[in-house]
Parts: sequence; C-alpha cells; structure tokens
Amino acid sequence: MEDKEQLIMDKLTKVCTCKSITRYKIKRAIEHGCEDLESIMDRTGAGTGYCKGKNCSEPIQFLIDEYWENK
Ligand code: FES
Repeated sequence: MEDKEQLIMDKLTKVCTCKSITRYKIKRAIEHGCEDLESIMDRTGAGTGYCKGKNCSEPIQFLIDEYWENK
C-alpha cells in the first residue's frame, strides 16, 4: 500500500504533460492490467498529445518496469 505522501505526489505529477495525465492515473492503469505502452495509451490517452509520446513514453515505460520489478 502506498503511503499518503506518495499518493498526493502521484496525483500532482503529470507524466504526460500534453494531455495532463497524472502518474496516479498511469499507475492505476498498470494495476488494472495495462502491461505495455500501447494499452496505457488506449486506456488513459497518454501519448496522444502534441508530441505523440516523445516526452512521456520513457517515463511511462519506467513506471511499467518499476511495477513488474516490485510485484
Ligand atoms: S507528453 Fe505525452 S503526448 Fe506529449
């Protein structure tokens, strides 16, 4: 279980700045079965903004890898 401070930071931190998608939303998508970038993009809209994922693909992949390493 994540602590309260981490939860607040996740809700405040934008991973995909083009679409204003938070780290919280990305993490929830991963926990609900999104296992790769494409499925997260489909579910959340991240990576579909102006830069087409150029700026957010790497941090999203990091969150995916982090989740599976700690599972
Ligand atoms: S930062 Fe995600 S699409 Fe641009």
